[in-house]
Amino acid sequence: MKELNISELRDNMFDAISKEWMLVTAGTPDKFNMMTASWGGVGVLWAKPVAFIFIRPERYTYEFIEKNDKLTLSFLGEEHKDVHKVCGLKSGRDTDKVAETGLKPYTTPDGNIAYEQARMVLECKKLYADMIDPEHFIDKSLTDRWYGEGKGGFHKMYVVEIEHVWVKE
Ligand SMILES: Cc1cc2nc3c(=O)[nH]c(=O)nc-3n(C[C@H](O)[C@H](O)[C@H](O)COP(=O)(O)O)c2cc1C
Repeated sequence: MKELNISELRDNMFDAISKEWMLVTAGTPDKFNMMTASWGGVGVLWAKPVAFIFIRPERYTYEFIEKNDKLTLSFLGEEHKDVHKVCGLKSGRDTDKVAETGLKPYTTPDGNIAYEQARMVLECKKLYADMIDPEHFIDKSLTDRWYGEGKGGFHKMYVVEIEHVWVKE
């Protein structure tokens, strides 16, 4: 992988996140977990390049994000879409997702986990996190549409600084 300056990033991140999807990974080389995510974004906040992701507390990955300062967002390209069938539908609590998907994890120089299959990795540091508060919805129809029985709990939003962008050489 080679490191890109954030200004060199030419991806349409709307499509990358919502259509290609990403793997959110947190933990240590000894113990980590990953899950598919298709909600989030990138931008600028506090004069830093940031990403923001939304994770339901019931996810096993949530525990790893909570315990660790850093996480990675890995974009695998359309050719590895099958990985998301496992990582987006099964939990690391009862599935060895690396074994089941054939993902090949590696440790970045900063000690975070990414995958040989990834075409792009955003290596990130947590800056801010808060639970989405049902009281704060201005469009109240969203709470009925996305939360509740059979849909899932309110997300926690994490704003993370993008410290490194890696792309395949
Ligand atoms: C396409 C797709 C997108 C998803 N996006 C999110 C997301 O943005 N946030 C979230 O909390 N869960 C999302 N999920 C659900 C998690 O990936 C799923 O619950 C996963 O099995 C959690 O694994 P874990 O328990 O090992 O963390 C998504 C699932 C799919 C299939």
